[in-house]
Amino acid sequence: MTAGPLPEGISEVLFTREQIAQRIGELAKSIDDDYADQDLLLVGVLKGAVMVMADLSRAMVSDPPVDWMAVSSYGTGTRSSGVVRILKDLDCDITGRHVLVVEDIVDSGLTLSWLLRNLGSRGAASVEVCTMFRKPGGARVQVPVKYVGFDLPPAFVVGYGLDHAERYRSLPFVGVLADKG
Ligand code: IMP
Repeated sequence: MTAGPLPEGISEVLFTREQIAQRIGELAKSIDDDYADQDLLLVGVLKGAVMVMADLSRAMVSDPPVDWMAVSSYGTGTRSSGVVRILKDLDCDITGRHVLVVEDIVDSGLTLSWLLRNLGSRGAASVEVCTMFRKPGGARVQVPVKYVGFDLPPAFVVGYGLDHAERYRSLPFVGVLADKG
């Protein structure tokens, strides 16, 4: 449970530390089973996916290798445009490998759909997505997501890697940010 008063700016807890840990365990088991004996590479998208990746990769028994990308999405205000610039590329070659992109949240899906096209053009054997949180109402492009932790209501959420102006990332739970819709 999340004891005590909520941090300033948070109006409600949506998923507790315990609920997140349990769901991570379930996702890890599914991924281990689905990719048994395959050359799997987990690709995390910085910075939001740091917490998910740390917990997911440690909950997996197959000890998969991990690589990272950092991208920046140009947009007007809070809307992402789908125009993406790579700030940090993968360190490794993904030719012939099974890539699982690990995301914190899929909202409009624009950034992710660009990323999937980009990774797909590098000759990977497969490219799939695992996201901890998904906002179905916000989807502007259909992105095939193989693993979803939790579907969210239409609110701006923070915690467990998700930020607002770089705050709240290290909260162990996910909560609704008050006054942000
Ligand atoms: P999109 O799917 O291209 O719209 O971009 C998703 C990105 O928007 C995520 O990686 C987050 O950085 C950010 N984002 C969208 N919704 C939220 C939210 O509720 N809380 C925190 N960040 C969010």
